[in-house]
Amino acid sequence: MAELSTPALRHVIKELYPETVLYSEMLSAGAIAAGAPHNEPLVTLREFDNPLIFQLVGANPSVMADACAILSETKCYGVDINMGCPNHDIVKKGQGAMLLTDIKKARSIVRSCRKATLKPLSVKMRSGYEGNDESSFIDFIVMLEAEGVDFITLHPRFAKLGFRRTADWRLVALAKRHLSIPVIGNGDITTPEAAIIKIDETGCDGVMIGREAVTSPWIFRLIADCMSGRSSSLELDVRDIFLKTLGYMHKYLPERLHRSRSHRFCAYYTRNVRYGHDLFTKIRRESAIGPVMGIVEEYYDRNPEEAIRHYFIEGGCISNETPCLDPAFC
Ligand SMILES: Cc1cc2nc3c(=O)[nH]c(=O)nc-3n(C[C@H](O)[C@H](O)[C@H](O)COP(=O)(O)O)c2cc1C
Repeated sequence: MAELSTPALRHVIKELYPETVLYSEMLSAGAIAAGAPHNEPLVTLREFDNPLIFQLVGANPSVMADACAILSETKCYGVDINMGCPNHDIVKKGQGAMLLTDIKKARSIVRSCRKATLKPLSVKMRSGYEGNDESSFIDFIVMLEAEGVDFITLHPRFAKLGFRRTADWRLVALAKRHLSIPVIGNGDITTPEAAIIKIDETGCDGVMIGREAVTSPWIFRLIADCMSGRSSSLELDVRDIFLKTLGYMHKYLPERLHRSRSHRFCAYYTRNVRYGHDLFTKIRRESAIGPVMGIVEEYYDRNPEEAIRHYFIEGGCISNETPCLDPAFC
């Protein structure tokens, strides 16, 4: 996720649940192909980035292929093509979700990227641009499979919706029925119970978690524990995870990125505390990571009871101090 999938967040997620598959921030194919040095911190792989998929955004097939070849030379697991970003600056260049409106262009991009890499090639997509036209959607995903894409990740909202309404997971089930390659479902998963229900209902091969992974980087561990069916408990030091992520940001990212990346992360992570809005308002006044960490420490010094959180997992559900958030499941 742009400005969120930093090496800092990735490191923390891997410490919490080592099996997680990671994605990079969205990378401009033009900048990668041109060797733009400002991208270096975003494409540097660390020991915890395993497996990591680089995500590319672009609309020019040969530039996309060049970028794909460059990234494939690294130790990344695979390369993903963004066909879902609805951001105005992206779609006006014909990139991201706009590719869903031009199946020929999308085919040409996939074909050239397919030739450029032997590594897994995937597509992350919305279910449409202006609406959910099922037959165009099916034509599109069948084309992706025929061109040799190894799997798709579907966020089943059409692009013009942004994040309005709820993701229509029936389209994930529809994709599953028309494809042989794996389909990963994505959208609105905020609890382990929801992840398990979606996998069960749609038959999808996995789930991708976006926003909740920033607020609760431990969600992957909770999902795995719930799916295992075993009883377990998890004690989390949410204060320590907060400070650790900021510390890793300081360590891994150049100073010019500290403000944007720390603010983006804090916008989500401060949802974990009672006075999160006030805390984030204070954080936003700072540009450097040191003072942000100072504000966080001060908050928890005043509210020590918020630092530790317990989860109890029993029979596939989270119970006790953290009640099951999805009554439909229990
Ligand atoms: C701030 C932000 C940045 C995002 N950046 C990307 C991106 O770079 N590439 C991408 O494929 N999706 C991106 N997404 C979309 C997420 O990957 C995901 O599809 C969407 O948030 C729905 O999943 P969720 O409900 O689990 O968050 C972004 C979402 C947000 C909120």
